[in-house]
Amino acid sequence: MNDDLKQAAGISFIEQTTLDRATIRTAYRPDYGAAPAYKSYPDAAVLELPRAAWQLSEARIINLLQRRRSLRTFAETPVSLHQLAFVLWASQGVTALAGNHLLRTAPSAGALYPIETYVSLQRVEGQASGIYHFDTRAFQLRLVVEGDQGSGLAAAFLGQQFLGQASFCLVWTAVSRRSMGKYGDRGVRYLLLDAGHICQNALLAAEAVNLGSCPAAAFYDRELNDLLGIDGYEEIALYGAAFGAKQETTTPLAGR
Ligand SMILES: Cc1cc2nc3c(=O)[nH]c(=O)nc-3n(C[C@H](O)[C@H](O)[C@H](O)COP(=O)(O)O)c2cc1C
Repeated sequence: MNDDLKQAAGISFIEQTTLDRATIRTAYRPDYGAAPAYKSYPDAAVLELPRAAWQLSEARIINLLQRRRSLRTFAETPVSLHQLAFVLWASQGVTALAGNHLLRTAPSAGALYPIETYVSLQRVEGQASGIYHFDTRAFQLRLVVEGDQGSGLAAAFLGQQFLGQASFCLVWTAVSRRSMGKYGDRGVRYLLLDAGHICQNALLAAEAVNLGSCPAAAFYDRELNDLLGIDGYEEIALYGAAFGAKQETTTPLAGR
C-alpha cells in the first residue's frame, strides 16, 4: 500500500474515530455537550403540509416507509435465497448503462460506486454459511471466508448478539481511492453518504419481502476489517445491517 492515505485528512478522521476493544472504556471522548433534538422557528410564517392526499402510485413506498422499524430479534425461520437476492439487488443492483458507467439502484457521488458489499450468510435456505463478496455486475456472491462467521461478526460489532442471530448480515466497505482519487479528502464524506443510501435501500427492500432488519455502525474497526480481510485504508469497513425473518407478533388461535 502507498502510505499517502495514512496522511490523508479524510482517513485521519476515520482513524481518530476508530473504536478499539482495548480502549473503548478508557479512550478520551471530548464532551461537546448536547444539542436540542428539534429546531423550530415559532415566529415564522407557516405552510401546513397535507398528509392524506397521497396518490395510489405512492402507496407502496408509503407502506414500506411506514412499516420499517429496526428489529433486533429474528425468528428461526430461514430466509430464502430469493429474499436475500432481492435485498442485494435493491441495495446495489445495476439498473442502467450511461457511457461507461453501470448505474445502480442507489445514487453515488460522481457515479464512482466506492462501496463494496459483503454478505455474512448465517441461515439462508439451502446455502452454505460464510462471508461472501457481492459482485454487483455479475449479480453473484463469491465465498471469501468459509463457515458461519455470525459470532465473530457479533463480537466485532461490540458484542451485539442480534448480528449473529440474524439470517444474514450485510457489511459495507469503501474502496477509499475510488472516491478520494477524484475528490481528495472531501471524497471521504461521499463514502459515508453513499453507504447511507445503499443501506436505506436494503432496509426498505427487506420490508418489501417481509424481513426484519437493523442497521449497525458500532463496531471495532480493526476487528471488522480483519474479519473481511481488508486493511482499513485502501478499503475501510463503514456500516452494516442484520436481516432475518420477523417474529410472529400474533398467536394464531387453534381450531378456528
Ligand atoms: C448510522 C446508524 C448506526 C446505527 N448503529 C446501530 C447499532 O450499532 N446497533 C443498533 O442496535 N442499532 C443501530 N442503529 C439503529 C438505530 O438505533 C435506530 O435506527 C433508531 O433507534 C431509530 O429506530 P428505527 O430504525 O426503528 O426507526 C443505527 C442506526 C444508524 C442510522
